[in-house]
Amino acid sequence: MRNKVIAGNWKMNKVLSEANGFVDEVTSKVPNSDQVEAIICAPFPFLASLVEKTNGSKVKIAAQNMHYEESGAFTGEVSPVMLKDLGVTHVVLGHSERREYFAETDETVNKKTHAAFQHGLTPIVCVGETLEQREANETKTLVEGQVKKALDGLSEEQVAKTIIAYEPIWAIGTGKTASSEDANEVCAHIRNVVKEVTSQEIAEKMVIQYGGSVKPANVDELLAQSDIDGALVGGASLEADSFLQLVEAGTK
Ligand code: 13P
Repeated sequence: MRNKVIAGNWKMNKVLSEANGFVDEVTSKVPNSDQVEAIICAPFPFLASLVEKTNGSKVKIAAQNMHYEESGAFTGEVSPVMLKDLGVTHVVLGHSERREYFAETDETVNKKTHAAFQHGLTPIVCVGETLEQREANETKTLVEGQVKKALDGLSEEQVAKTIIAYEPIWAIGTGKTASSEDANEVCAHIRNVVKEVTSQEIAEKMVIQYGGSVKPANVDELLAQSDIDGALVGGASLEADSFLQLVEAGTK
């Protein structure tokens, strides 16, 4: 049985005092269950403070992106070494907003996935189709390509530890959620792809999240699906109450 992983992706929101207040509330109330992991994916300037504040609690802190190099002349970038040194545990890679606005490609996502493992960080790799691609029946082929390229060259042990977040782009921030059956169908397809490139055993271990307008009102139905092991949540992760309800749903 796989654990559920609920990750709140704050994107470019909050200031430090708000971020600190949020984690103070969440760390004291988060359910103490082994069945669920709670992760907050925060902007870079908050990471050091949030890691310190969540120390000893169940809440883990993730970055929303990183460079794949360890150091060097890359003005404005943040390296995996810096994240690890702070105590960050996870990193979101290949979010559709980074693919769309910041020239992220399957190739850079693959380099970053390797770099994450080299430095002891767990990657949360995002994949997903546009509305046009869904309407053209290209979802499975597209997502399959993204998954295969992201995982290329990883060891089986690393694949098993990778978290994949299936986030259909048309469902992000739009209030439109994929039906739980449709979301599950794509997540199950991803697991099959992973099985093809590794083995059933590895595929069964992999955590696959759904993301796209997840909120307390629809999370139970999504998490009840056979191949959805958690959620990557934007808007509904910005309020402590709502984030806590989502984490609570992972304990059921
Ligand atoms: P929303 O939950 O706001 O739709 O965002 C989803 C997302 O992009 C999480 O990474």
